[in-house]
Amino acid sequence: MDVLTALLLLVHLIPVSTAKNGVSSKSRKRIMPDPVTEPPVTDPVYEALLYCNIPSVAERSMEGHAPHHFKLVSVHVFIRHGDRYPLYVIPKTKRPEIDCTLVANRKPYHPKLEAFISHMSKGSGASFESPLNSLPLYPNHPLCEMGELTQTGVVQHLQNGQLLRDIYLKKHKLLPNDWSADQLYLETTGKSRTLQSGLALLYGFLPDFDWKKIYFRHQPSALFCSGSCYCPVRNQYLEKEQRRQYLLRLKNSQLEKTYGEMAKIVDVPTKQLRAANPIDSMLCHLCHNVSFPCTRNGCVDMEHFKVIKTHQIEDERERREKKLYLGYSLLGAHPILNQTIGRMQRATEGRKEELFALYSAHDVTLSPVLSALGLSEARFPRFAARLIFELWQDREKPNEHSVRILYNGVDVTFHTSFCQDHHKRSPKPMCPFENLVRFVKRDMFVALGGSSTNYYDACHREGF
Ligand SMILES: *[C@@H]1O[C@H](CO)[C@@H](O)[C@H](O)[C@H]1NC(C)=O
Ligand SMILES: *[C@@H]1O[C@H](CO)[C@@H](O)[C@H](O)[C@H]1NC(C)=O
Repeated sequence: MDVLTALLLLVHLIPVSTAKNGVSSKSRKRIMPDPVTEPPVTDPVYEALLYCNIPSVAERSMEGHAPHHFKLVSVHVFIRHGDRYPLYVIPKTKRPEIDCTLVANRKPYHPKLEAFISHMSKGSGASFESPLNSLPLYPNHPLCEMGELTQTGVVQHLQNGQLLRDIYLKKHKLLPNDWSADQLYLETTGKSRTLQSGLALLYGFLPDFDWKKIYFRHQPSALFCSGSCYCPVRNQYLEKEQRRQYLLRLKNSQLEKTYGEMAKIVDVPTKQLRAANPIDSMLCHLCHNVSFPCTRNGCVDMEHFKVIKTHQIEDERERREKKLYLGYSLLGAHPILNQTIGRMQRATEGRKEELFALYSAHDVTLSPVLSALGLSEARFPRFAARLIFELWQDREKPNEHSVRILYNGVDVTFHTSFCQDHHKRSPKPMCPFENLVRFVKRDMFVALGGSSTNYYDACHREGF
């Protein structure tokens, strides 16, 4: 048995509580890994398998937990697309043979998979803003195309949708049975994997939904900044961040050596191999239990993988310390956070529109939002990651609204920079909605350290 197989067997055979925490937990409360408070785990393979998010038994989650006198008002869900085929090929090797058609009796299973395919085949272009209407509604290539969503990716989001259905619809009655089109807000980037992920989640959430009540908007920017994307200072932060990344890589001689060895195996210049971003492809091999590629010069192996993945983990650590990415994130995430609090504010005024919002997006969308909220310790967004904002009303004090923030089912509300100290002063298990509003309207810019107090000034600050 090779190492890869052994590791994957480990993940499949050991109960989730043990595999995910890395310790045998008798305490039933610690089933979910806490992405914020867990001590830094540096095992690169363990981290990579969390990233794969291989569907297994139903996970526990903290969504919808609230005292009885709280009423759920609205829910805002940000997802990363599910498992996908790599975006890059390792030069001069055979690309992994993964089947992107959906087959009900192939692993990973989902009881709703067949019904999902059948429902998707009835969909019409009228439900999608152009150019989304030209995309296929589910993955369908016997050999996956680059970046295509896999069956694993579909199953991950069917599961997410079903979990949210049980909590928000069955338990908290967020939407009435005869919900209407304007109670949903659906938005996705223009990639087939994000549209299909959004549809899978929606299908799990509202099985057999009426196509006439569905309308997916198209978001051209991965930052979801529509209309407010021009922000020169944000780009300057990004350039400095990229420079930091480059310098850290140069310092890592083991990494350079590894790229050199791999380049020799596939017989291309080291530079070309590095530019092909081999980790993306190697993760696909790992997540799908397909052995790493070989040539007549040898094989890419687990040791190569560990060196590159370990560097990624170190890069994330330095990224947190140097704060350049934080600057980028505060400006990059402002428009979508601003839009979200706008939607929440309308809901607090009793309007019954856009009570469930779904943004189907990428790691480069979720990552800045997490960082901007002060959740920089949170793990990099895995496949089918979900970040959720819940808005609640206190029935005993109807003018008071509160928010909860959840990342992959873990309540991270009191880890955010705008609510860190709140629970020490208040017995309420939630954050006042005003805290989030104040943060988005003003404190985000104060956190940048300049004198700006609004988005436009912060984006155009001179002499940065
Ligand atoms: C991984 O693949 C090997 C064959 O290459 C197979 O024997 C093994 O059962 C697979 N492991 C899992 C966990 O699917
Ligand atoms: C923030 O949202 C308000 C409406 O809620 C809008 O008028 C304003 O232009 C938005 N600002 C940015 C920078 O997106």
